[in-house]
Formats: sequence, structure tokens, C-alpha cells
Amino acid sequence: MGFPTIRPRRLRATSSLRALVRETSLAPSDFVYPLFFHAGIEEPRPIRTMPGISQLPVSHAAEQAKGLVARGVRSAILFGLPKTKDATGSSGLDPDGPVPRAVKAMKSAAPELVVMTDVCVDEYTDHGHCGILRTRRDGEVEVDNDATVEILARMAVMHAGAGADIVAPSDMMDGRVGAIRRALDGAGFETTAIMSYAVKYASAFYGPFREAADCAPQFGDRAGYQMDPGNAREALREAALDEAEGADLLMVKPALPYLDVLRDVRKATNLPLAAYNVSGEYSMLHAAAAAGMIDLDRAMMEVLTSIRRAGADLILTYHALRAAELLGG
Ligand code: PBG
Repeated sequence: MGFPTIRPRRLRATSSLRALVRETSLAPSDFVYPLFFHAGIEEPRPIRTMPGISQLPVSHAAEQAKGLVARGVRSAILFGLPKTKDATGSSGLDPDGPVPRAVKAMKSAAPELVVMTDVCVDEYTDHGHCGILRTRRDGEVEVDNDATVEILARMAVMHAGAGADIVAPSDMMDGRVGAIRRALDGAGFETTAIMSYAVKYASAFYGPFREAADCAPQFGDRAGYQMDPGNAREALREAALDEAEGADLLMVKPALPYLDVLRDVRKATNLPLAAYNVSGEYSMLHAAAAAGMIDLDRAMMEVLTSIRRAGADLILTYHALRAAELLGG
């Protein structure tokens, strides 16, 4: 009986052997840390549904930037909570809004930190949808794609003007990557990169974020512009469209329920690929750990490793600081 003489088990005998042959690495520089800046608060306001995460006053931006760099985390993505909201999200275009102010503070405190901004109107609209609404002739309310794209392009230019390195449209409107690219180039921001939320599913796992960013839709849902969880091929079409329109990085969101999609997109593109380990994915680990069901740190590292293994270069994750700490950052 000719058994092979080299067996995988031999390479598991010690932790140094395991480390030598590990296929997937995890480092603090793989993470992008999401931050919520609120224009109307003076002190951090803990988010009830996301243990350890708070809405922050802009006055904390510089300190956050330095803290991330000190841990080896190289990037943050910023969300804004304005003082006022209206039907067209006009506070999202205010150059004195929480996002542009926080971008400036973070870039001057830590110029090497790559600052990304979420470009979407849902944080700034009173109805909480990712687009400007209009009423069709049959009385149905729908998102006005082209009017929304125009606002997104202006928002992206405003964020670039504040110093954002990467703008990240998260709205899923058609044609927005190309429109944002043209607007950035036209305004002299040829070097500002675009990371598109190319593949974004209509997911229950955004639940806690809606409290964090105070943007739960006031009626209806987002299934009209976000993807159906049953579809995988459509993800490749979305990714290809955004790549053709000039996206510099692509993202798949959420991460865990869509690791197969992440793998498919990885094979279909040579662009850098990010995955968003979203709020619900974060909070469910915390909830299970608080109930004594799992070990939080181990589950977190396993989850982050699985997302890298599936093909993500970067992971947007609320676990970033703790994971970086465990990795020795
Ligand atoms: C939209 C946006 C959402 C998230 C990031 N950008 C909410 C949504 O699409 O409904 C969710 C992120 C998370 O759940 O952590 N601006």
C-alpha cells in the first residue's frame, strides 16, 4: 500500500510550522475603519446596537486618525450625520458639513492615512433613501436615478476638495461611477480615486448601521436599487460596468453571506477588491459573545481571515482596531 509520505499533519505540529505554510495572511493594513461624524454633538454618543462604536464629534477626528496610524491601520471611511435633513439631502453638499471637516482634520493630523468618504444621500435625506424621489404618473414613488447621480457627483467633488483620497459611492445608481469620474477630472481632481460599492445586496445585515447613521428608510425598502440576494451572475455584470466606467477599486457588500460572490468577482477583475464586513455582521458576533455563546476575539479573527481567503484585498470592518491590537499593531 503506497501511502504518500508527505502528510499535511506534519505541517501542523508547531505554531511556527503552521505560520510558515499559512496561505492567508491578516495584517492591520488590510483594514479600513468606518467612522461616523455627527455635526450636532460635543461628546461621543455610543451606538446602542454596535457595542464599542460611537458617533463622534468632528473635534475627535484628529485623535482618531492618529490612533489608527499608531495601530498600523492605514485607512478610514467616513460617514456623516448632519444637523438638518431635507428631501434632496442638500446638507450633504455643505463644505462645512461633518465629513469635509473631519477629512481635513484627519489628513492634517495623519497625512499618510488614506481617507475615504462614503458618497450617498441617505445620511442627508429626511426620507432616508439613497436617492432623490419622484412620483411616477401611476402614483408610485421611485428614485430619480439621473437627478441623484448629479448630486452624488457634486458631493464627490466636494469631498475631494476637502482632501479625501478615495470617494466611495454607496448608492447603486446606474452610471454614477462614470459621472463622478468626469466631475472629479473636470474639477482638477484627476488623482482622487473611486472605490465603488459595485456589488451591494439588499441585506438585513445593515440593521445596526441604520441607527449608527440615522438613515432608516421612512417608507418602503431599498430593493429597487440594491441587489437580490439570490443573484450571483448579476454581481459580475455590476462589477464589470463599474470597472468600465472607471472605478479604481471595487467592493462587495455585505461580506459573510456573499463570500462566494467575493470569490467570483475576484476571479473576474484585476482591480483591487474590498469587502464590507457590515454592521450586522459585527453586532451579531458581539451579541453572541455577550450571551456566552462564542469567543469574540477568535470568532472575529476567523471571520476576517475567511473574507481575505475568499479574495478581498481590503476589509472595511468595525473590528479593525481590536483586530489590529491582536495582530500586534
Ligand atoms: C449607504 C450605506 C449603508 C451602509 C453603508 N453605506 C446602508 C444601506 O445601504 O442601507 C451599511 C454599512 C453597514 O451596515 O455597516 N450610505
